[in-house]
Amino acid sequence: MSHIKGNHAPWRGHVRAWSTGDVLEPIDANYGETFADVYDAWYGAVSDVGALTALIDTLLVGGLSGAEVIECGVGTGRVALSLAAAGALVTGIDNSESMLERLRANDPEGAVTAFLGDMSSDLPTREFAVAVVAFNTLFNLQTEDQQRRFFHHVASRLRPGGLLFIEANEFRQIERVEVESEQLRPGGSTVQSRSQIDPTSQTASGEFDDGSTVRQWRIRYLSTTQIDEMATEAGLPLVQRTEDAIGTPFTELSERHVSVFRRPILEEQ
Ligand SMILES: C[S@@+](CC[C@H](N)C(=O)[O-])C[C@H]1O[C@@H](n2cnc3c(N)ncnc32)[C@H](O)[C@@H]1O
Repeated sequence: MSHIKGNHAPWRGHVRAWSTGDVLEPIDANYGETFADVYDAWYGAVSDVGALTALIDTLLVGGLSGAEVIECGVGTGRVALSLAAAGALVTGIDNSESMLERLRANDPEGAVTAFLGDMSSDLPTREFAVAVVAFNTLFNLQTEDQQRRFFHHVASRLRPGGLLFIEANEFRQIERVEVESEQLRPGGSTVQSRSQIDPTSQTASGEFDDGSTVRQWRIRYLSTTQIDEMATEAGLPLVQRTEDAIGTPFTELSERHVSVFRRPILEEQ
């Protein structure tokens, strides 16, 4: 069996050629609809939410208390509920009704205002102090065009001085790989994972088979250089980048990052 570093990175298994022609077909699945029933169990600890909340609280002038925050791809509320607990006024958008149903169950007090929509086109028409795109959610946008539109859209919803936080993996793959592995899930169950990374299309895709359900996924990843270029083009220069939310320096070996972008205030423009 292969050694797996983290459940959130299915592409980390042993590299193995699949049988000829055994390549995953492109999928047209809605991530949230596919994963809502297992999301909290599988990915509840995918990144350090407490540290991210503390980082946002530190970097935002005036702190999180009373600040208007939008989480893009809010999912089941893993991050949003922590931000709300820190006193932020949190709005969440997600394009999966099943994810939002889970959020409502996790948030009986209604601390997070959530609605169904596409984060690249449907953000509420008012200004936020902070926008958050948590772990790899940016890569759920499946085309370069949609990703570019997202940056322009979110920039238009940040107040001057407002901050955009992005958490994502840095893919350093230069050759196409196919990976097969058995992954342990919290609670002790296992899933069979097959995935592939195609650097030409900048996609990683795959499927998890838990014996009764096969769940397919696909992301279009971006390098930090590409993210910075898209953000800058949208008027959101990079302010800082670390490997994680507790401040580990980001280096050429880092496989993940927490990046912070800021909408300049008028006199800086
Ligand atoms: C990886 S999950 C992250 C959920 C949550 N932010 C967290 O960190 O636990 C990605 C979420 O983004 C949502 N999503 C994917 N594409 C979206 C889009 N175009 N607009 C809004 N939400 C989207 C999915 O339904 C899913 O809930």
